[in-house]
Amino acid sequence: MLDVTSHHNTFRLIERFKYYYLHLYNQTSRSIDKSEQKKVNNMNNHNHHNNEPRQDETPAVEIINARKSYCIGEMEVPVLQGIDLSIQRGEFLAIMGPSGSGKSTLANLIGCRDHPTEGEIRVLGNVVNKLSNDELAHLRGEIGFVFQTFDLTSGMSAFQNVELPAIVYQKHGCNPEKRAKELLELVGLADRMHHKPAELSGGQRQRVAIARALVNDPSIILADEPTASLDASTGAEIMKIFKNLNRDGRTVIMITHDPAIASHADRIMNVKDGLLVSGNMNT
Ligand SMILES: Nc1ncnc2c1ncn2[C@@H]1O[C@H](COP(=O)(O)OP(=O)(O)OP(=O)(O)O)[C@@H](O)[C@H]1O
Ligand SMILES: [Mg+2]
Repeated sequence: MLDVTSHHNTFRLIERFKYYYLHLYNQTSRSIDKSEQKKVNNMNNHNHHNNEPRQDETPAVEIINARKSYCIGEMEVPVLQGIDLSIQRGEFLAIMGPSGSGKSTLANLIGCRDHPTEGEIRVLGNVVNKLSNDELAHLRGEIGFVFQTFDLTSGMSAFQNVELPAIVYQKHGCNPEKRAKELLELVGLADRMHHKPAELSGGQRQRVAIARALVNDPSIILADEPTASLDASTGAEIMKIFKNLNRDGRTVIMITHDPAIASHADRIMNVKDGLLVSGNMNT
């Protein structure tokens, strides 16, 4: 269990987690009402355990003419300038493009962490900008986001970093302690569970971030440069984890600079001049 001295400390940790992960932009911190789960369409209409396409399934993600600009002072800086993309359930898609081209911006739109300036994002059949905050929080729970910078909480052990979201979500009536242990074993970290991030290597931290992203049994895994800070052999180990997740029927969307990593995908797209163009293994 979490190494806390009182219920108060546990409560504070959970509140902090909720604020950090569920309410990144302009959202009030509210506990998640289980009834909201029913309101969100199609969320569990996925086939984790085999790759057979189902005729009735809407795509995992649809992006329709999405534009995103950032305002810096008076100036509006366009980053994405009309993205159209449909990602099928069970697909493994790599998104490439030069630094600053807008890959993380696109990942934040797909991950329901930001809204487009124009256009529409649909995730598992849900029009993202029509959802209430609670519905949005639930939809985010269907997406395992592995952040470019890991975003682990430094004061907590690997185990606690994974256990905390399991406590917050309590999905499938799971036992958070058991779930965290299973996931850390899955990513090969059984012997490092009680180390804090600063006591782990880059590859090990990346594994903790992956375990944490999986805690809610998401149907979509969205990973932003998950191997960027790793050497080739550790990167290949991490790729094995993603390939296995995809083999289980999960949709994997991976942002990467590395053509060798992208070559594992079913399809490669490139962000170029604010648009998305088909890529190949050599781009
Ligand atoms: N919150 C923000 N406010 C203003 N500008 C931003 C913001 N976030 C990103 N940008 C700008 O948008 C552009 C795209 O950034 P983004 O992080 O999406 O690029 P990226 O393709 O992920 O780059 P990298 O490969 O270096 O991670 C950059 O020019 C960046 O400066
Ligand atoms: Mg980025």
